[in-house]
Amino acid sequence: MICASFVYADIKNGIYVYKTHCANCHSVKMEGGMGRDFNLVSYDRRKEQIVSYIQNPSMNFREFGYSANAMPKIALDEEDIYDVAEYIDSLQKFKKWMKKQ
Ligand code: HEC
Repeated sequence: MICASFVYADIKNGIYVYKTHCANCHSVKMEGGMGRDFNLVSYDRRKEQIVSYIQNPSMNFREFGYSANAMPKIALDEEDIYDVAEYIDSLQKFKKWMKKQ
């Protein structure tokens, strides 16, 4: 079953959240930045992982393969977190885990 929050995710709001809170550090057109471009994130992370990272970078950075944590925890409500995660997920339709071995 799909999590109810995602069913109602609002991509337009997700774009707004991205521009307001993420664009300083993450690009969506491979322009570089302090954090990874969200096309790369979309390709190799699951939506649940993206949500979890936004909720708590300092608890997740090691599991995600970083040796240090520079991303701050950003004060966003649950809906904004789901919406921006939905937007990131929508950037790449083909995912790393869909590749054949
Ligand atoms: C001050 C700069 C900064 C801001 C603002 C920022 N990030 Fe990050 N983000 C980073 C950095 C640097 C990393 C690399 C790991 C770390 O430092 O925690 C990262 C890592 C991530 C990751 C894990 C990427 C991966 O695949 O390994 C996700 C997901 C993420 N950010 C999402 C967001 C979202 C969504 C926002 C806006 C709501 C945001 N970030 C705002 C700097 C930032």
